[in-house]
Amino acid sequence: MQGLFDRYGRQHTYLRVSITDRCNFRCTYCMPADGIECQPKENLLSFEEIESLVRFFVRHGIRKVRLTGGEPTVRRNYLELVERLTQIEGLPEVAITTNGSLLALDAERLHRMGVTGINVSLDTLDATRFEKITRRDKFSLVWNGIQEALRVGLRLKVNCVVVPGVNDDEILDFVELARSQPLTVRFIEFMPFLDNSWNISGVVSSSEIREKIGDIYPLFSVKSDPGQVASTYQIPGFRGDIEFVSSVTESFCGDCNRLRLTADGLVKSCLFLPTEISLRDLVRGGAGEAELLSAVQNCLDGKWKEHPPMTKWTQLDQLTMVQIGG
Ligand code: GTP
Ligand code: 5AD
Ligand code: SF4
Repeated sequence: MQGLFDRYGRQHTYLRVSITDRCNFRCTYCMPADGIECQPKENLLSFEEIESLVRFFVRHGIRKVRLTGGEPTVRRNYLELVERLTQIEGLPEVAITTNGSLLALDAERLHRMGVTGINVSLDTLDATRFEKITRRDKFSLVWNGIQEALRVGLRLKVNCVVVPGVNDDEILDFVELARSQPLTVRFIEFMPFLDNSWNISGVVSSSEIREKIGDIYPLFSVKSDPGQVASTYQIPGFRGDIEFVSSVTESFCGDCNRLRLTADGLVKSCLFLPTEISLRDLVRGGAGEAELLSAVQNCLDGKWKEHPPMTKWTQLDQLTMVQIGG
């Protein structure tokens, strides 16, 4: 069988590539106020190494790459990497998940290069609250970035992690964003990661949010593509749509198609599984195609059918969210 399959017959066609563990924000649910100890530059995959690994993955069936971080745009010259990746034949989708701080500047170039989608983290529409959540006074910058991305025609999703007492009173305001703008608003359940003080009482479930929205608007479920973590809904008359990422209360592992590469070159078969296999070390040691493939297959062979319920696991992985990139 060609392609990257796990023991449960799931083919992996989507690679999330973290290109830095640094970030210019300090979102409370993602990392501690004073940040984390970042990797020295020599530990990170170089752009050449990333491109060459992505080409390897594309030869084995990867069809979508998403750049993540930390914050991918803080990696110096990240546009050069984006350009290299968008030129790879056989890779129709190159997307980015960003905090939006560089979008106002870069949206047009990203669009021109052929980036197929931008997901922007935005948890509040209130500037003061934004500063509390991200520990940075950058609401206008991000907001302008979103407007610029829409103006140039980028496919845009807004990622909103809903936390009780923090932003759960803004759900309907976020829904309103999708009325006049052609974007997707996504409500995300808060997930546990190292050092993010997660507690089950800090989770606002998608069903609660759906109910709240359903009281006001008619919500119609739309069939999502296989492998999507989000379930999609539409409201008649709205230009945009609404999605829910219910990692805590619903399982969407059944058709998981994702692999991850950390900024220092570890391959991860699941967001929640620790990893020991360094593709960076293999590449730097001169490994060929067969050796790389066998390492990735090894990683896939350890992938579980589904992650255990979140309440059952605490710190399975010794990485923080900012190191994994979501
Ligand atoms: P699309 O490609 O646009 O569907 O985006 P995406 O959902 O793959 O990526 P994004 O970076 O926007 O992530 C949105 C949310 O989904 C974040 O909270 C991620 O941590 C979470 N997420 C992404 N992949 C997985 C996964 O494999 N499992 C779980 N449980 N959550 C994930
Ligand atoms: N739980 C759920 N989503 C999270 N993100 C960051 N931390 C968490 C968490 N603990 C989201 C961000 C970003 C995406 C990559 O992951 O909002 O958009
Ligand atoms: Fe940075 Fe994103 Fe983490 Fe916020 S969620 S601190 S923007 S990596």
